[in-house]
Amino acid sequence: MIVTATELFTQAYGKYALGAYNINNAEQTMGLFRGNIASSAPFIVQISRGARNYTDKRMLEGMIRAAEEIFPEAIFAVHIDHGDEETCYDAIDSGFYSSVMIDASNLPFEENIATTKRVVERAHEKGISVEAELGQLGGVEEDISVQEEHVHLTDPEEAVEFIDRTGCDSLACAIGTSHGAYKFSGSQSLHFEIIEGIRKLKPGFPLVMHGSSSVPQEEVERINAAGGQLKGAKGVDPKQYLAAAKLGVCKINIDTDGRLVWMRVHREYMKEHPDVFDFRPMGKVYMEEYSKFIASRNELLGSAGQLEAVRASLCR
Ligand code: 13P
Repeated sequence: MIVTATELFTQAYGKYALGAYNINNAEQTMGLFRGNIASSAPFIVQISRGARNYTDKRMLEGMIRAAEEIFPEAIFAVHIDHGDEETCYDAIDSGFYSSVMIDASNLPFEENIATTKRVVERAHEKGISVEAELGQLGGVEEDISVQEEHVHLTDPEEAVEFIDRTGCDSLACAIGTSHGAYKFSGSQSLHFEIIEGIRKLKPGFPLVMHGSSSVPQEEVERINAAGGQLKGAKGVDPKQYLAAAKLGVCKINIDTDGRLVWMRVHREYMKEHPDVFDFRPMGKVYMEEYSKFIASRNELLGSAGQLEAVRASLCR
């Protein structure tokens, strides 16, 4: 069942966070749905502009609609990740997406407000939730690359003004994470005081944490042992997910970690089976491993086991 992100956030606020996972292909879609059902978790499927251009946006819609039929018990939102205005309007008009992110965080404050407000007006006419972003995360995510000198953390007072003036439903804040596999070079910590500051000024308002992959070192080591060359890759301590959730972070974005699972499975399989040319055996291993990974993340986010409570709340 496709629901809006807001419907999910209402249940989650202050207790747990929804995993927001990016997908690009059929194997990821199967692994994602299996993992969420196995762990009884509501979740958010994220589609980036890069994913829409990888095969075709209609292919992704077809796969998700098929997954909805294969897993009728699933409850999830379908969300545009880092949309520009044009992509958001396309998603809003499609009748498929239940949530969009307008990312105008690279624009000056007033222009970010004006752009976000336009998207909110169009989305709310159709009952679609809108996530916006204030502050800038570093790192590389598909076609978005933010250099270290342009990174700036979210200011809580500005965030409240932004939320009030745009009418957005959730806000992605920059609290020291970055996109990709190389998040931290030293021992930086996350700026939880920013989330706490916003929560004090705006209790009950859902916040979003981007760049939340944990980049498991075991995964990196296995990739490198099978021929990869990921040097100095480092991510967020996943024990911080639940701590962030208790402070009002309702959505935690995880993309890079899923790519690492893909890379590890395929590199190891090809190294161990140099004679194999059928890609399906390794695709099967990947679906199983990705499903296990998703279930393990949901345990850390606190969303595991929440599916029936969410269903009951939606039926009320
Ligand atoms: P990671 O690169 O840490 O997985 O973050 C993904 C993300 O924030 C998608 O918007």
